[in-house]
Amino acid sequence: MGRQRTLGRRALLAAGGVTVVGLAGAGSAYGMAYATADIDTADDLGFANPLHIPPVDDGTIETDGTRQFTMRLAPGVSSILEGRTTETWGANGPILGPTLRGRRGEVVRVTVENALPEPTTIHWHGVDLPAVMDGGPHQMIQPGKTWSPSWAIDQPAATLWYHPHPHGATARHVHRGIAGLFIVEDESSATAGLPRDYGVDDIPLILQDRSFGDDGEMLDEPGLLRTITGTTAIGHLGDTMLVNGTRSPYFEVTTATVRLRLLNGSEVRSYNLGFADGRPLTLVATDGGLLPAPVALGRLPLAPGERAEVVATFRPGEVVTLRSFAQDLGGGLSDRFWGGDDVLDLLRFQAAPTLGGVGAVPPALPGEPVADRIPLAEATTTRTFQLEGHDSLNGRTMDHRRIDLAIAAGSVEIWEVQADDLMHTFHIHGAAFRVLDIDGEAPGGHLSGSKDTVFVPAGSTVRLAVRFPDHVDPAMPYMYHCHLLRHEDNGMMGQFVVVTPGTEATTPLTMTDHAGMDHG
Ligand code: C2O
Ligand code: CU
Ligand code: CU
Repeated sequence: MGRQRTLGRRALLAAGGVTVVGLAGAGSAYGMAYATADIDTADDLGFANPLHIPPVDDGTIETDGTRQFTMRLAPGVSSILEGRTTETWGANGPILGPTLRGRRGEVVRVTVENALPEPTTIHWHGVDLPAVMDGGPHQMIQPGKTWSPSWAIDQPAATLWYHPHPHGATARHVHRGIAGLFIVEDESSATAGLPRDYGVDDIPLILQDRSFGDDGEMLDEPGLLRTITGTTAIGHLGDTMLVNGTRSPYFEVTTATVRLRLLNGSEVRSYNLGFADGRPLTLVATDGGLLPAPVALGRLPLAPGERAEVVATFRPGEVVTLRSFAQDLGGGLSDRFWGGDDVLDLLRFQAAPTLGGVGAVPPALPGEPVADRIPLAEATTTRTFQLEGHDSLNGRTMDHRRIDLAIAAGSVEIWEVQADDLMHTFHIHGAAFRVLDIDGEAPGGHLSGSKDTVFVPAGSTVRLAVRFPDHVDPAMPYMYHCHLLRHEDNGMMGQFVVVTPGTEATTPLTMTDHAGMDHG
């Protein structure tokens, strides 16, 4: 802890470019910025707006059995604030996108039309699929064009998501409103005894922070405060919470248990979720799917890119608020400028006078223990990754023509991810991992399942056992990167290809350009 505090203060000083004297001076701009940098909306919101539930889309089944989805990305106008409209982007609607739903064992195809004024991509975050279908920066969709990736779903039931991934513009495109869930079901998820009536007792909660100007427009750039403190490079931290694009939302509970499919779709903000009255959240799934047994949590930390499924229990007629509490991000004093001191009300649940639905959470769930899914004994290679500043991974920035790693198909490796004195969040495309330890200590219960994204506290090392995908393609890379979207845009990202085991050495470590790549 002592080490982290020291690091944190160094970050604060480096970030602000001020002296300790300047910081201590109560009248300094910096001191005033510090004093006013936290936000507290506890019991302060009106909760006047019904929670928007993104429509579920089961697609259509083609004659060959393929499940076909269609998404049109386009600008729109949203009513988020009272009496003002906001220009947003969305998929099949003005903001966010449909919740796509498919089953393990089937082939899906998504036809994505880009009706935006800019090139973009749609990336399938957490999906096990060939790199050429991944929707990263190598699969640009030009305005007016369509892209139709197709893959066989071959992973356990999980809450996955999609978002744009054009290099250098991911933050802006996600910020504008494009993101949605992809729910995978499998044989066991239907009979797990968990709530599964979408929109009724199984609801998506996409958490995003935004700031608005006087005209209702969403502000991309941080305000004066963050300019003074020098923390702008870490990304946009909003002062207004949206859940599924709804500000100050309420949800009418009609069942005694409700499953919440949580996604942190924010650019930089981490949440520390809990109920205002202290009742526990029952964690049933992490990024990669269901746990073998539920885990009761007082608080659930959720960093950008992470998902979690929890079951909450309600009594007839009660009203309770879901809140994000203050948290330790590892940066000491700097935590305040990263939102660590913020207390944010998110959503009010209003329970009906009588409640139906599924009863208690079953004591056993169908998820395979992550230690069996990703056995440590199989790991033969250890690699180290350093996340530094606002743009650097292992001392360099991403170059889409440079392959950083060639990895054997289906292998397990140990990845040690180290943060400098900033916080970061680490994500690997196409892969699933298990968090072994953080600074040598066992991770908390919220990290006990299969993951594809993990928070890396400032000054900390997170050790992962990673299972890589089977899809061999020595010419088309997957990405790994910090999921703070500005860091990702700045190039805190690398590329790996998946090769036939034993052929690593022969893989060319440069790649030819792909048609459709936008070189800016
Ligand atoms: Cu959420 Cu590289 O992605
Ligand atoms: Cu991803
Ligand atoms: Cu980062």
